[in-house]
Amino acid sequence: MPEQVPLDFLGELRRTHTCGQLRASDVGKTALLMGWVHRRRDLGGVFFIHLRDRDGVTQLVFHADAGAELHAKAEMLGSEYVIAVEGTVAKRTPETINPTLDTGEVELVATKLWILNESRTPPFPMEETVDVKEDARLKYRYVDLRRPHMQRNIMLRSKISFAVREFLYSQGFLEIETPFMTRSTPEGARDYLVPSRVQPGSFYALPQSPQIFKQLLMVSGYEKYFQIVRCFRDEDLRADRQPEFTQIDLEMSFPQQERIYEVVEPMLQRVFEVAGFNVPKQFPRLTYSQAMRSYGSDKPDLRLPPFHVLDGESWQLGLTFPPVAIHVPKTGPLSRKERDELKEYGTGRGLRVYDDLKKLDPKLVEQARAASGATEEDLLLIAGWPGAPQGQRPEETFYQACGQLRLFAGQKYNDRHKLLDPQNFKPLWVVDFPMFEWDAEENRWNAAHHPFTSVHDEDLDKLTSDPARCRAKSYDVVLNGVELGSGSIRIHRRDVQAKVFSALGFSDEEAKRRFGFLLEALEYGAPPHGGIALGLDRLVMILAGESSIREVIPFPKTARGSDLMCEAPSSVPEKVLRELGIRIANAPGKP
Ligand code: AMO
Repeated sequence: MPEQVPLDFLGELRRTHTCGQLRASDVGKTALLMGWVHRRRDLGGVFFIHLRDRDGVTQLVFHADAGAELHAKAEMLGSEYVIAVEGTVAKRTPETINPTLDTGEVELVATKLWILNESRTPPFPMEETVDVKEDARLKYRYVDLRRPHMQRNIMLRSKISFAVREFLYSQGFLEIETPFMTRSTPEGARDYLVPSRVQPGSFYALPQSPQIFKQLLMVSGYEKYFQIVRCFRDEDLRADRQPEFTQIDLEMSFPQQERIYEVVEPMLQRVFEVAGFNVPKQFPRLTYSQAMRSYGSDKPDLRLPPFHVLDGESWQLGLTFPPVAIHVPKTGPLSRKERDELKEYGTGRGLRVYDDLKKLDPKLVEQARAASGATEEDLLLIAGWPGAPQGQRPEETFYQACGQLRLFAGQKYNDRHKLLDPQNFKPLWVVDFPMFEWDAEENRWNAAHHPFTSVHDEDLDKLTSDPARCRAKSYDVVLNGVELGSGSIRIHRRDVQAKVFSALGFSDEEAKRRFGFLLEALEYGAPPHGGIALGLDRLVMILAGESSIREVIPFPKTARGSDLMCEAPSSVPEKVLRELGIRIANAPGKP
């Protein structure tokens, strides 16, 4: 760091323009800019500085004849110094125009310079071309967030939140807050707990979602609620999961499922428009069982063609279920090695993969070609399940394996067919999920969505007799293989809610202890209601073209749930624990 940099106070200085604003039409004007020294070059006594703020970059010039004092000050500037500069906007000569900058036709010829703060050498370069380890980026997140691509992502996030608010307000939704210090809301994860000091031994849970509160707001007659809200879930982290994340959460009174789609589809259109993209006006719909039968997934990526279950009559291969034709377009002929790799992947998931179709019954192959429309330059595989049926819905295990093979092959040859272009957006609704999922470890049924979801009217009488076949009034909005949002029509009658709790294996006492207040609320004039929550982080991730939500969250956690910058979680003094009535049983270093 240069010694004794004379620092200036801001005083009355005021910006006239941002660093992304000046154009050829401003030539001759006086401008005062403020920002960070992005890059500097010294060309024989003439200093060229790229000054950056969140709006862009402007080139500053300090000429050799600008005056000794100004020149000497400019010479002290280091990377990421914060400065204010006044000067005259000048046109660049044609050969020095920089087409990569919006301001590239002009430069600011500096006449005054104020150094507002210096900077230590940044822990990594600001240039996007330099690959920086994520740990370093997270430790110095405030520097990382200054890099143009992070600034783009965070600003896009803000624009999207604004568009959502604007849209929902225009549709008569009210923004209402719900508590963070509350009781457990079951969404399938563990809770983060907050100990109570005044009631030692008692804990608040941070909400996994505002689910119960938004339902209570419907009971209270608010009719249309929304919130852009933080949720907390202690679960294993992945690229699209964080322990705290943000939902666009909404709930309506008196809706059929269609009423919810009528809100979400135009809202997403508006959001895509703000980000510079288009999505279809109406999203196609698939039932859960159609999605499983055609894509082997409840979050199908529609950019690749579906697979096709072949007619039962033409298979005589000793398989447990009718075989499936998997089609990936435009792969061209594959080598023996490439085919073996696909087979190995499928076999590893329990499939028998037939890649040499000449060895199969021509009638079966003909059917596979006709169903898929595969041509000679496409990949066509036939897959079967040689093993015993598994699970409560046994075909699904087979279809899931086919779906995985389809995605594996699709991704592997994307450079040939280019169907998985991240800007090719194919949203859809997946509807009518099963009401329950079998938990083999606990030996009981779990709610597939959450326990407040309505069952299909015609499946109501199967709640206890045949839970596996009960369909829920639930729906997911899925985009390019990512579950963007999930919702349902809720149970608004106490007797039905009690039945569902009982199907989930809750005793009356347990249901009362955990959800007594909700059951009681349903007795005081609860209207039919339903809603949905979309993951804001996932939405922004997709629109920013990122593959992890960490890239669109200002201060995210690592896979171990740590904040590397402020070093959370951390231990707390013994005294604090004592006040909370807590003793650590297995503190690090103690046996
Ligand atoms: P669900 O649990 O499906 O539904 O969550 C809704 C959406 O939130 C996002 N999401 C996450 N995003 C990042 N990190 C996580 N750990 C994470 N968990 C979920 C997903 C998901 O689709 N109360 C219900 C909604 C309702 O029924 O209205 C709920 O929370 O994008």
